Amino acid sequence: MTFPPPPLRIGDLVIDPPILQAPMAGFTNAAFRHIVRQFGGAGLLATEMVNARGFVWMDENDAEHPDRLWGVAEEARPLAVQIWDNEPETMAKVGRRLAHEYKVSVVDINFGCPVRQVTQKAHSGSYLLRDPSRMSAIISRLVEVCAPTPVTAKIRLGCSPESINCDVIARVVEEAGAAALTVHGRTAADMFRGNADWDRISQIKSHLKNIPLIGNGDLDSAEKVVAAFTNYDVDGVMIARACLGRPWLFAQAAAALRGDPVPPEPTLAQQRDVMLDHYQLVVDRFGEDKGTVLMRKYACCYAQGKHGARHFRTHVAKVSTAEEFYSVVREHFPSAPAPVV
Ligand SMILES: Cc1cc2nc3c(=O)[nH]c(=O)nc-3n(C[C@H](O)[C@H](O)[C@H](O)COP(=O)(O)O)c2cc1C
Repeated sequence: MTFPPPPLRIGDLVIDPPILQAPMAGFTNAAFRHIVRQFGGAGLLATEMVNARGFVWMDENDAEHPDRLWGVAEEARPLAVQIWDNEPETMAKVGRRLAHEYKVSVVDINFGCPVRQVTQKAHSGSYLLRDPSRMSAIISRLVEVCAPTPVTAKIRLGCSPESINCDVIARVVEEAGAAALTVHGRTAADMFRGNADWDRISQIKSHLKNIPLIGNGDLDSAEKVVAAFTNYDVDGVMIARACLGRPWLFAQAAAALRGDPVPPEPTLAQQRDVMLDHYQLVVDRFGEDKGTVLMRKYACCYAQGKHGARHFRTHVAKVSTAEEFYSVVREHFPSAPAPVV
């Protein structure tokens, strides 16, 4: 691999740097993406996964579109929206709207979710890895209706360690017309146990003819991002859990890829201000009551790895007003200002 790695091409879209922010249900909403964009360094951002069937139902019943599409119409680009279901026509209805009305940059398909609700109940997400022909039907129908907007797929290595079939799936994904493939280097049965298998991700590259391979799993530092490009045959990388409490990680990784000095971690006071900005965005959208409850999990992410994190988590998990939130923050982060909600 040459350094810095070249921009990633997804259809006509140029992703520079080739570092992607992963879709994460319950986390990567417009507020979080706004914070990530402020720091820079992420070449492509993604929404949380959106259930296509739910979206269609809302359309047919004149209901509000899902909260998970909050901000999508107005937000800066590039932006990928991830959708899931197992019905090609349902997916096509939603893909068409996203591509042509919302004008998103990429429509991504979730073939990796291992959660029971999605796999056993809806035969979707990683469940579809056992059904390559259905995957193909979903992708090719979406490609048809979304054109020229690129359609991409995100998979795991297989359903279980005994049924790893990512090489076959990679070929199916490309032949069906997808413009990129992202692989989380675990199987669905692994959930998040063990380490992501980057050797296995890397082997997939020889099964793809033209589309880029994006590797995902356990990247939590600028050094690991550099190592991923150095040691493995990937065209791009995707970061998930590690960016939740450290949205500046993309800027650090991008600098490292360019060979520039890696920006230091923000000071505790700066991190506190990021968290408070994040809180304000959430409260502006959802109001103080719901917003404060929603912010609990983000606040825990910001505190992760810090001195006193356990104590902070115990207290922030109970806050339900802005005053309580600020008071917990004030106790753990230096000189938090008064609430302005
Ligand atoms: C809370 C949470 C929510 C997630 N939601 C999604 C999702 O909506 N769509 C998806 O494709 N993957 C989802 N993932 C998986 C991540 O995108 C990623 O593949 C996985 O966390 C491995 O990357 P990491 O080791 O950098 O965290 C989720 C992961 C977490 C922890």
